Amino acid sequence: MPQKVILGVSGGIAAYKACSLLRLLTESGYHVTVVPTAAALKFVGAATWAALSGNPVSTDVWADVHEVPHVRLGQHADLVIVAPATADLLARAAHGLADDLLTNILLTAHCPVVLAPAMHTEMWEHPATVANVATLRSRSVRVIDPASGRLTGADTGQGRLPEPEEIFAVCRELLSGGQQAPLPGSLSGRRVVVSAGGTREPLDPVRFLGNRSSGKQGYAIAGVAVARGAEVVLVSANVALPVPAGVSLIQVQTALELGEAVDKAVQDCDVVVMAAAVADYRPAHYADVKIKKTFGLDDNDESAPTIQLVRNPDILAGLVRSRGPAGLPVIVGFAAETGDGERTVLELAREKFLRKGCDVLVANEVGVDKTFGQDTNTVHILRRDIDAVTQAGPAPKESVAATLWDVVQEVLSAG
Ligand code: C5P
Repeated sequence: MPQKVILGVSGGIAAYKACSLLRLLTESGYHVTVVPTAAALKFVGAATWAALSGNPVSTDVWADVHEVPHVRLGQHADLVIVAPATADLLARAAHGLADDLLTNILLTAHCPVVLAPAMHTEMWEHPATVANVATLRSRSVRVIDPASGRLTGADTGQGRLPEPEEIFAVCRELLSGGQQAPLPGSLSGRRVVVSAGGTREPLDPVRFLGNRSSGKQGYAIAGVAVARGAEVVLVSANVALPVPAGVSLIQVQTALELGEAVDKAVQDCDVVVMAAAVADYRPAHYADVKIKKTFGLDDNDESAPTIQLVRNPDILAGLVRSRGPAGLPVIVGFAAETGDGERTVLELAREKFLRKGCDVLVANEVGVDKTFGQDTNTVHILRRDIDAVTQAGPAPKESVAATLWDVVQEVLSAG
């Protein structure tokens, strides 16, 4: 189960920066519920929080009363972070007020609480705010000092919300219970190539042989790698999804184009993740004009054309073959398996792992309503160097991506 984070947002202009913090949290696999105050919603609307978190947004104590949200959310959270925390929010928290959903949550939370204040310097330095911060810190609330710099107007001074990455690092540290956890930046300096989506092999100008891959898992893998500081090339085959911020996108259609793009991108890279569903075969002949049916209106005419196929190169196997003696890049393959009645998905994946020779293999169970196009995934991650299997999911694809990068980072540091 992913850890649960409540992201409280109070009404300051820095609320827009909480959107980036939210992305860092979701892309690292946390389940985030955003609780904006009424004033925060004047800066950033509920639709933005819902879309970015992938969860309904809780705004007041009077919605879904039968579920007692003002108690439940706080009790079940692993971390509450409020960013930005205004002078008013600090005052209400310090005095134990419970006049909206967020302050109710602060009173019911048993977990670590982090407040990231943002306000004008005068408000931050006012004796009332200074006393409120001291009170909160005396109760073990983690109040992050605001940064100095340009404020909303032309003035400068202490009061700026720290950068989302800095706040995220504090959250991550508290969520890991002080254990060493990969921080954003843990892939910094690393060059990563991710392929995603499904290839289309054209028969004629209007038809192709394709597959059901939506690209969601590959895009999540690229997004998490960027959040951890990697330089990411995303080779994308026929995906209709927003491109994660910060990746370099190369769009392709066919297996041959994908192979060419990956081969070019892998020069000097540290990791290749082949998440794309690549067609093993393509039509032997491409018709320049639309193939016409040969039968007329006669229902008894059973004639049908035969499509001849030829093999596509196995890109993953080619990467393994051409890898130099230094052991880089780390090569990650995917195996979409349905099981075959005799062997389980994991058994089939082990056989494929032997055949493919990659360093890590992500095996997932697929079927008409499983995995493809879904937001969640369940996988076995097989690692060659120490012959280990890590399970991930059922969990959002971002969370599975975070577990995969944890594994790959271990392989990188072991190698
Ligand atoms: O053998 P199978 O197609 O199931 O292997 C899947 C893995 O191999 C995926 O990582 C996929 O991206 C990769 N692959 C490839 N080239 C192909 C077929 C699959 O790189 N022609």
